[in-house]
Amino acid sequence: MRIDIMTLFPDSMRAVLGESIIGRAAKKGVIDIHCTQIRDYTDNKQMQVDDYPYGGGWGCVMMAQPLKACLDDVMQKAGPRNSRVIYMSPQGKPFTQAEARRLVADYDHLVLVCGHYEGIDERFIEECVDEELSIGDYVLTGGELAAMVVTDCVCRMVPGVLSDPECYTGESHWNGLLEYPQYTRPETWQGRTVPEILRGGDHAKIEHWRRKQQLERTRLKRPDLFAQFRPDETDEALLAELEKERSRMKLTKPVTCRGAVPEDLPVIMELLAEARKRLAKARVDVWQGPYPGEETFREDIAQGNCYVLLYENEIAGAFSLVGPGEVYHDEDLTDGKWHGGAPYVVLRRNMVGGKFVGSGMADYEMRFAEEVAKSRGADSIRLLTHKKNLPMKQLLSRHGYRFAGNVEVEIQPGRMGARQAFEKELK
Ligand SMILES: C[S@@+](CC[C@H](N)C(=O)[O-])C[C@H]1O[C@@H](n2cnc3c(N)ncnc32)[C@H](O)[C@@H]1O
Repeated sequence: MRIDIMTLFPDSMRAVLGESIIGRAAKKGVIDIHCTQIRDYTDNKQMQVDDYPYGGGWGCVMMAQPLKACLDDVMQKAGPRNSRVIYMSPQGKPFTQAEARRLVADYDHLVLVCGHYEGIDERFIEECVDEELSIGDYVLTGGELAAMVVTDCVCRMVPGVLSDPECYTGESHWNGLLEYPQYTRPETWQGRTVPEILRGGDHAKIEHWRRKQQLERTRLKRPDLFAQFRPDETDEALLAELEKERSRMKLTKPVTCRGAVPEDLPVIMELLAEARKRLAKARVDVWQGPYPGEETFREDIAQGNCYVLLYENEIAGAFSLVGPGEVYHDEDLTDGKWHGGAPYVVLRRNMVGGKFVGSGMADYEMRFAEEVAKSRGADSIRLLTHKKNLPMKQLLSRHGYRFAGNVEVEIQPGRMGARQAFEKELK
C-alpha cells in the first residue's frame, strides 16, 4: 500500500508517521508513505496557496492550481496503480473501520488531500477528488490529523504491519461489537483483581466470557452499534444468559451472619420450600421427601449448629455446620479417600432464598461457613452433594473444594441414595 499525503505541513506529519508500528512497517518496506508540500507547486513567486473567497466571508480558500499540480506530480511518481484520491473534509462520509477495510481491499494507492484555512476551491474537488472522508462531526483547522487517522487505521490492516491479522480482527468495530476488557499484571491492583476466569486457563470458558463481555459492553457503551448488530444463534444464547444475569439481584449492602434462633424457623422453612422446588425443577433428587423437616432445623438450632445470613435485616440464606466430631469415615466412601485430616466439620443444608439466587449470596455462605469452621478449630470441611446438583458443584469448585469420592447414604428415612463427597482443607 502506498499512501501520498498532500499537505502544507509535511515535516510534522513525517515526524508522527515515522514513529512506532507505522514507522517500523515503513522502514521494512511493507507500506510506503510520502508527505508532499503543496506549497512547492504554486505558480506564483510568493508561493501563495490560498486567496480570498468569492462572495466575501471569513478566511481564505486554498487555490485549485497548486493542488492540481501537486496531485499530478504525486500520481506520476506513484506510477500506474489502483489509486483513490480522497479529500479529508468535515463534509465527507464518516470514516469507520468498515471504510478502512474497503480502502485496504479495493486500492493499493491512496492520495489524502489535506485542506486548510476555510477549505479548498470546490472546482478541485469536482475535477480531481474521488471521495471525501470525515473523521467526525466537528471541524479541525486542517486535514493533517484526519489524514494521519486514516493512514494509521488503514496501514495496520496491511499484511505484514501487525504480527497477525487476529491483532485487528478481534478488536473493537471489526464485527460490529466493541472488544472485551483486557488486563495485564499484576493480578491485583488497588484491591481490584483480574476476573477469575481469565486466570483459570480454560480457553473455551475464556472465549465464552469474552464474547459475552463484547455483547454486554457494546449494549451499554454503544447502543447505536448494538441496535445494528445482527446476532447469530450463539450470540442469541449469550444474550439470553446476560438477560438472566441482569435480572439477578445485585448485593450492594453488607451481608452478615449470625447463629439462628427458634424465631427464625418459619423463614428457614420458607427458604427450604423454595430450594426444594428449585431442585425438583432441575431434576435433582435432593430433599424431595420429608427430610429435612422443621424438626431437623429445630435440632440444628438447639445445638448451635444452624446459621442465618442477613441482608438488610432479611434472612437471605441458612446453613448448618456440624462438628468437629467423627461424622464421615473413610469406610463410608465406596471409592476415593478423604484427604483432609481431623478435626473437621460437616457443612449441611446450605441454601439461599429464591430472590438471592445468582446474587453471590451462596458465596457469602461458603465464606461464613469457613469462618465458623475455623473458629471451631476445624482443619477441613466435608460435605455431600448430588452429582447432578451443578450449581452446588460450581460453587464448591469456586471455593476450592475437591472431590473425595462417592458415598451411599440414607437420603430419606428408609431410602438409600448416591452422593458425591467433597472437602476443603482450611490450613
Ligand atoms: C477549518 S476546516 C474547513 C471547514 C469548512 N469551511 C467547512 O465548514 O466545511 C479546514 C480543513 O480541515 C480539514 N478538516 C476539518 N475538519 C475535518 C474533519 N472532521 N474530518 C476531516 N477533515 C477535516 C479539511 O481538510 C478542511 O479543508
